[in-house]
Amino acid sequence: MSNPRILILGAPGAGKGTQSRRLAEEFGIEHITTGDALRENKGMDISHLDLEYDTPGEYMDAGELVPDEVVNEIVKTALEEANGFVLDGYPRNESQTEYLDSITDLDVVLYLDVDEDELVRRLTGRRVCEDCGATYHVDFNPPEEAGVCDECGGDLYQREDDTEETARERIEVYEENTAPVVEYFRDQGVLEEIDGEQTPDEVWEDVKATVEARAN
Ligand code: AP5
Ligand code: MG
Repeated sequence: MSNPRILILGAPGAGKGTQSRRLAEEFGIEHITTGDALRENKGMDISHLDLEYDTPGEYMDAGELVPDEVVNEIVKTALEEANGFVLDGYPRNESQTEYLDSITDLDVVLYLDVDEDELVRRLTGRRVCEDCGATYHVDFNPPEEAGVCDECGGDLYQREDDTEETARERIEVYEENTAPVVEYFRDQGVLEEIDGEQTPDEVWEDVKATVEARAN
């Protein structure tokens, strides 16, 4: 399969971003991630929508979902520009799932399965490069030099929503809104379940093999 269209599902901290970066590199496709896109636009004025908050950042720092109107538009534009993609962080509820279904076809749907306590450990220890976006973990995947990116030498920072309190809130929001999306794809018989509790390299072996198997 050239330029596969891949969806990667999983709870906050399951390793979607970690594996998506490798998929994008291996298969030469775009990494489309609503989380990163929204973090770059945290201060965007969405007051015209007349909803709970006036910027995406306020939803994100509370661990809540940003409104569908905002997110659907980001994904539509990104998908139109991509020749093959791995979609990470979307869809997160039923209405986003229906919208996605109306604008594209998927070749592979991956699901990274990880237990809740492990998710919290991963989120609270995460560090991200402010220049290239590479992701580390203070214990599970530390950089060679603390606070410095191995790939580009950039500074590492902790995401504002990676405090224990907000991480738990995000997991709750996931259970309520996004777990049914996983069930939807499972019911369709297209869900490829991966044990996300293995090491990053072991998860990658399973992810890569699964995508390649779908290609043949
Ligand atoms: P988003 O950025 O998508 O966050 P998330 O879904 O909570 O997922 P994360 O990025 O936290 O986890 P990940 O699975 O990518 O894990 P990672 O690979 O980094 O969304 C943030 C916010 O934006 C949302 O709360 C919401 O407000 C808003 N938003 C985004 N999309 C939206 C949408 N569609 N609709 C509405 N609102 C939306 O790994 C985590 C850590 O674990 C790292 O430290 C990593 O090094 C480590 N790690 C990874 N794999 C392993 C492993 N196998 N073993 C040990 N450690 C590992
Ligand atoms: Mg991520």
